[in-house]
Amino acid sequence: MDIIISGANGRMGRMLAEAVKAAQVNGNSYHVAARVDISLETDPAAGTYAALESFTGHADVVIDFSHHTAAKGLTEYCLARSLPVVVATTGQTEDEMNLIHTASTKIPVFLSANMSLGVALLADLVKKAISVLPDAEVEILEHHHDQKLDVPSGTALLLAKRIVEARPDSQIVVGRHQNGKRSPREIGIHSLRYGNEVGTHEVILSMGNETLTLKHKAEDRSLFARGALAAASFLIGKMPGLYDMRDIVM
Ligand SMILES: NC(=O)c1ccc[n+]([C@@H]2O[C@H](COP(=O)([O-])OP(=O)(O)OC[C@H]3O[C@@H](n4cnc5c(N)ncnc54)[C@H](O)[C@@H]3O)[C@@H](O)[C@H]2O)c1
Repeated sequence: MDIIISGANGRMGRMLAEAVKAAQVNGNSYHVAARVDISLETDPAAGTYAALESFTGHADVVIDFSHHTAAKGLTEYCLARSLPVVVATTGQTEDEMNLIHTASTKIPVFLSANMSLGVALLADLVKKAISVLPDAEVEILEHHHDQKLDVPSGTALLLAKRIVEARPDSQIVVGRHQNGKRSPREIGIHSLRYGNEVGTHEVILSMGNETLTLKHKAEDRSLFARGALAAASFLIGKMPGLYDMRDIVM
């Protein structure tokens, strides 16, 4: 599988290139066709490109770990070349999210704020917990490294979205900062930023006299890279549509 990595010079892009090499060692035929990043020089001999449009060679899929502002160029490029795309980047605005959803009517798009199987399972468990405990007070804590740009994390929003699916009258409150009691239907989201923390998500459900905590901790970034490769493999040959981790694990 020939892969274009968008955001190739970032933490995840570099990790993904490593994962591709490891996958080859395991006998799979993964190959990086192009490393695209606005911080790289276009040098076809080195396989690096400053922009997607500069790469016209063969590719089977694009995996994007860049920045939400890349959404327009990314979707235009993939639509023009009929390429499936894994959007692992987080923090998209509503307009950018609309571009991704619209593209998925014409090409296969895998969109997930978290490529970990454990987080996919956590999201499912959280939804199940809320359907059993509909009156629980819910607080979500997300911990990440001090270089993370988007707040709250895409994963915290993904978890909150699953809760809203099970309890539609919930109200998401990001970074509570005013005096006063919380309302029973609030889903509080709190963002911690420090050091090299890869990503921890905790969902606290309080029923007053008992508390349930569901927690996922990512120990290193390679799990997201492996998940993105699994998503890319899944997309090959699929019909146009919007896919996510539930299509792989559920
Ligand atoms: N889905 C997941 O499982 C998962 C896991 C980790 C990180 N992420 C997300 O992936 C994204 C990247 O994370 P990171 O830690 O590697 O960030 P990073 O800042 O280390 O790297 C981002 C890279 O993207 C490049 N870039 C910015 N705009 C670009 C554009 N328009 N076109 C091409 N390249 C561009 C930057 O130059 C940089 O090299 C973030 O949105 C992050 O939240 C998702």
